[in-house]
Amino acid sequence: AFNLRSRSFLKLLDFTPKEMKFMLDLATDLKKAKYTGTEQQKLAGKNIALIFEKSSTRTRCAFEVAALDQGAHVTYLGPSGSQIGQKESMADTARVLGRMYDGIEYRGFGQDIVEELGKYAGVPVWNGLTNEFHPTQILADFLTMMEHSDKSLHQVSFAYLGDARNNMANSLMVGAAKMGMDVRIIGPKSLQPDANLVAQCNEIAKETGATVIVTDDAKAGVKGCDFLYTDVWVSMGEPDSVWEERISLLKPYQINKELMDATENAKCKFMHCLPAFHNRKTKVGEEIHQKFGLDGMEVTEEVFESSASIVFDEAENRMHTIKAVMVATLGA
Ligand code: CP
Ligand code: NVA
Repeated sequence: AFNLRSRSFLKLLDFTPKEMKFMLDLATDLKKAKYTGTEQQKLAGKNIALIFEKSSTRTRCAFEVAALDQGAHVTYLGPSGSQIGQKESMADTARVLGRMYDGIEYRGFGQDIVEELGKYAGVPVWNGLTNEFHPTQILADFLTMMEHSDKSLHQVSFAYLGDARNNMANSLMVGAAKMGMDVRIIGPKSLQPDANLVAQCNEIAKETGATVIVTDDAKAGVKGCDFLYTDVWVSMGEPDSVWEERISLLKPYQINKELMDATENAKCKFMHCLPAFHNRKTKVGEEIHQKFGLDGMEVTEEVFESSASIVFDEAENRMHTIKAVMVATLGA
């Protein structure tokens, strides 16, 4: 029978549309079960390691809550305090943790690192974000789109705007190509996705009926969209020194009321993987805003706080979809 047992979840390119649909449907079921008090623990007695070489709120909490809901135990390994990245290679770490744990989550830097972990661990490895990809986020985003649209996923149009070379742009493009969606990846030429990845997505699109457009024209690009999506302009691991250039390059791609109106769709929703950099309520936010004097950043406060914003539904869905990934690959 069809199942995903013992598989790692390293990037969406490794999964068929049918397998992605399976995880989304499972997430829907698990969400319903949690809210009706009928959840069954499929991970009882399992041990799960969570490796975080970068900070996290949503991903860490989603893995911890999902694991505990399902009866598993977790060990959190943060950016410091273990031998990882200091004295021990990832291949050796993988073989050690694989002897003790039933599944391993990794958040960190290069995609090659999580791929190496997956190669040596002997147990499922789940990508909790790398520089190149953020696949669990896409499952949450697509579940959220399904919940907020009357359309089937393959009928949905959405645009991602901003730093279109980062992990979110890459993963949204691959995910949309797989699910047969109409996606527009919008950013300045110097911050558009790698040509090889775009070509790969166009190949996938031929099979699935997706439309993948990469453009630097924000106004034209968003026309007819059901969802506008953005992410921070400077990602984790990038130096603060790039802020100045990013702001000047990305200002035209800010999601504000004018751009929401340019969709010509009054029902268009706003999405963001979070954390968002829209206001001054953080120390670093205040510093950057004082220096550059912008109203908002990748999104205005007005749009972020509007009724079109579904960002906290997305955040909640991280938990249900991550639970689905763990249950699908590790469930008894
Ligand atoms: N969206 C997301 O991955 O958030 P965290 O960095 O808080 O995990
Ligand atoms: N592009 C962002 C996503 C955070 C969830 C980063 O990598 O920092």
